[in-house]
Amino acid sequence: MADRNEQLKFAVFMSGDSNYHLAGWRLPEAHADSGLKFERWAEFAKTMERGKLDMLFIADSIGLADADDPVATSQNPQTDRLEPFTILSALAAVTKHIGLAATAHTNYNEPFHIARKFASLDHISGGRAGWNFVTGANAQDALNFSQDEHTAHGDRYDKAEEFADIVKGLWDSFEDGAFTRNKETGQYVDASKLHVLNYKGKFYQVKGPLGMARPPQGHPVLIQAGKSEPAKEISARVADAVFTSQSTMEDAKVFYDDVKGRLAKFGRTPDQLKIMPGCVVFTGRTAEEAEEKYQRLDSLISQPAALRLLQERMGGVDLSPYPFDGPLPDFEGNKNRMSNPPALAKLARREGLTIRGLALRFAAARGHLMLRGTPSMIADQMEHWFKSGACDGFIFMPVYLPGALDDFVDQVIPELQRRGLFRKEYEGKTLRENLGLARPPNGFTVAKTS
Ligand SMILES: Cc1cc2nc3c(=O)[nH]c(=O)nc-3n(C[C@H](O)[C@H](O)[C@H](O)COP(=O)(O)O)c2cc1C
Repeated sequence: MADRNEQLKFAVFMSGDSNYHLAGWRLPEAHADSGLKFERWAEFAKTMERGKLDMLFIADSIGLADADDPVATSQNPQTDRLEPFTILSALAAVTKHIGLAATAHTNYNEPFHIARKFASLDHISGGRAGWNFVTGANAQDALNFSQDEHTAHGDRYDKAEEFADIVKGLWDSFEDGAFTRNKETGQYVDASKLHVLNYKGKFYQVKGPLGMARPPQGHPVLIQAGKSEPAKEISARVADAVFTSQSTMEDAKVFYDDVKGRLAKFGRTPDQLKIMPGCVVFTGRTAEEAEEKYQRLDSLISQPAALRLLQERMGGVDLSPYPFDGPLPDFEGNKNRMSNPPALAKLARREGLTIRGLALRFAAARGHLMLRGTPSMIADQMEHWFKSGACDGFIFMPVYLPGALDDFVDQVIPELQRRGLFRKEYEGKTLRENLGLARPPNGFTVAKTS
């Protein structure tokens, strides 16, 4: 195992009520009304700060995937959610340390809006903003944005390449220190430090500039969460962090080496990108207790909702022609989801799962690493992945709230701290500083001096 001096990084995946597990909300001890309640969000964020975790991440999908299926809809806790950016802005006011990140789809936003919103959040939070620039994989979302059909996979990433460059360019509109605010001379801003972007590409035309000082982090943290070929390329070129679903350490290591290996061609070094696979954890005082928790939740999953979720995350495939208790046939990627269908077919083959088994596995942990055991057993696995060079940290997915988050912060984190694998105090003030990422120089300043 490699000897690594750095420590693990942790994001927390947040999404509506049940959070990660489709049946999490049904446990008697789980909140079933957090989706729209800000007090609960504030409580979760404070728990994360107690655990010195790096970032609270809010996932987003725009429409309701299964609205045409009354049974699946009636059993889906992800039907009652606030708009993520609004929650992050409110959380900025009641937290001090935790990074505040959310998905905003490139396919359904304008770069200028995104640059302005995340720069504002970065200013309001003192440098804690992060943006997950997912392209938008759900076909039905297009219908909410005056489009007849979903943009093809390759085109979505071509657009995203332009989108990311524009957003970064807009954040650099003013050089650091441009705002002099000199009451005597009347100079508010040094106009020689203002840069107009004048971007003209295949998909976007954006003149700029953005009317706001450069964000405290220079650029809020850029996150990508795709696994396909173009997703890996854009991650290597511009992302600061990558979220990924990997169910085995071997696959995670292949992905890690692949993405990190692409950075050099963009003039970047491997430490400039943090790779964080998802991790679903069932903790108990004994291995039996953890297993019992897992089984209890498993028995509460709605099978129609689980099947519907699986089909949707495979890019809208129809599994009804195949027997529910038979094997999943091989699936290629499709225009909605390129990487999920083959990855899930591989997972089903490896774990010997029928379609029913895969739907239940998916409802509990999607295609992510699933850990069950005592805090020490969980820490062993995390340490193994980290020291084997399969990740730089994890995105932890609580199976229900608040209990799974509390257990992680109060039981697993102290064990990782005892092993020297996780911080006891925040190192910095900004999300970048805590993630160990440098503040990027202003692109216009670099161009002027080179
Ligand atoms: C941890 C994690 C979080 C994600 N969050 C979102 C999200 O909030 N919204 C979304 O539409 N997709 C989300 N995704 C899905 C991917 O970003 C991507 O859309 C999907 O993997 C398909 O892309 P690909 O076929 O190019 O790999 C997430 C994926 C992971 C691993």
